[in-house]
Amino acid sequence: MTTSLLVTAYIAAAVLFILSLKGLAHPSTARRGNQFGAIGMLIAMVAVALHAGVITSPTLLGALALASVIGALAASRVAMTSMPQLVAILHSFVGAAAVLVGISNHLAPAVELSGVERTIHDVETYLGVFIGSLTFTGSIVAWGKLQGVIRSKPLMLPGRHLLNIAMLVACVFLGAMYLRGGHEALPYLLIMAAIAGVIGIHLVMAIGGADMPVVVSMLNSYSGWAASAAGFMLSNDLLIITGALVGSSGAILSYIMCRAMNRSFLSVIFGGFGAEEGAAPAGGAVVEGELVATTADEVVALLKAADSVIIVPGYGMAVAQAQHPVREIVDVLRAAGKTVRFAIHPVAGRLPGHMNVLLAEANLPYDIVLEMDEINDDFPTTDVVLVIGANDIVNPSALDDPSSPIAGMPVLHAWEAAACIVFKRGKGAGYAGVENPLFFKPKTKMLYGDAKKSVDAILGALRAG
Ligand code: TAP
Repeated sequence: MTTSLLVTAYIAAAVLFILSLKGLAHPSTARRGNQFGAIGMLIAMVAVALHAGVITSPTLLGALALASVIGALAASRVAMTSMPQLVAILHSFVGAAAVLVGISNHLAPAVELSGVERTIHDVETYLGVFIGSLTFTGSIVAWGKLQGVIRSKPLMLPGRHLLNIAMLVACVFLGAMYLRGGHEALPYLLIMAAIAGVIGIHLVMAIGGADMPVVVSMLNSYSGWAASAAGFMLSNDLLIITGALVGSSGAILSYIMCRAMNRSFLSVIFGGFGAEEGAAPAGGAVVEGELVATTADEVVALLKAADSVIIVPGYGMAVAQAQHPVREIVDVLRAAGKTVRFAIHPVAGRLPGHMNVLLAEANLPYDIVLEMDEINDDFPTTDVVLVIGANDIVNPSALDDPSSPIAGMPVLHAWEAAACIVFKRGKGAGYAGVENPLFFKPKTKMLYGDAKKSVDAILGALRAG
């Protein structure tokens, strides 16, 4: 492949990646965004394969084919709720690749450089291996915590911040030795890689289960910078651009998630501030009032009398896979002239955009799916709110109880509507492990049971007239 054709392919792929990110920013364009990304990656891979002689190497071709099959199988089999684990493990591959590229680049540099150019090149190699190693081990620990094979409670070693600083200082010292050492400096690179790996393990071990998705997003950002560093080592412009896009978009996503969960960005990165998943109710005021159960028939009567309905989906709706019958209920109610809308909290479910993906699966029209900021003021003028498998995101103690572990987290004001129905199986707490005063309010009634079964029962009764 000629150089000009290669450059053209790289520019096309880079433009497609940018269009992909733009498309992924909204549910109505997300599918197209994903397609742009996939086409961009295909162009990039074909261009590199033709240019670098991959197609003439049976080993590389075999590896490419095997990896494609493994990737396709893993992605098609993964459950939506296990997506964070898959993402975490994929980040570890990027980290490992950056380390391997760095080491091979040291052993057999693509170009012989001297003077300042050589120093810059060595700094790139060193940084690439550092970020790569940290991303590799950190992502494996993140995977383990999300998968439940490593306990999610934060590991709080005494003097852990000092330990991190000491390891960082050691890496800087080794870096200085590496830059002086020339071709003989490999041991410095390897020792630093080992220390960076320990930093990655230690940083992520210190983070509680509740903060893990933010950490996965941070590791996504790190993996982007690692890829970018590998791009510099290999003098590959497309890898530099792609890595920078992943690095910066991952950092922005982490920031958005931190804001939506009322977590400080720095406290997440440096760890030790997340609560253990499924922990017993931690802190918060004693809740007064009683839980009042309702039936599907009573809910149907309420819905028939209502003019406006807001549905708040949460993690439980994803677990129950209730999105399809929910859509059918929406169709019936809208056909009867009622206003029905969805209120989406930015961290509803367990991964960014979780609820949007579920609702898109059920082919719900995007114009009735509203973000928290767009709909929160409308609850006081709403007749019925259906909270389907959601808990923390509708917890009023986030606003009025400073001792609550979720104090300060913005929430959906479901309690302001004329009536609120909560679909859940029992008295289980939400992700944050705290009691929810919404369930005890006089206007709230509990519809106990698996959300899909409850929604099916309501749909049946609505259809029966
Ligand atoms: P949660 O607070 O986790 O509440 C889910 C509720 O669904 C539970 O109270 C559970 O009660 C109920 N449930 C579970 N399975 C059910 C089923 N089959 N049928 C009916 N109900 C079921 O969910 P949320 O309100 O969506 O809040 C999300 C939480 O996750 C927040 O704390 C957020 O900070 C955290 N988080 C989110 C993200 C992202 S990016 N989305 C990332 C990390 C953490 P029962 O057990 O009684 O049924």
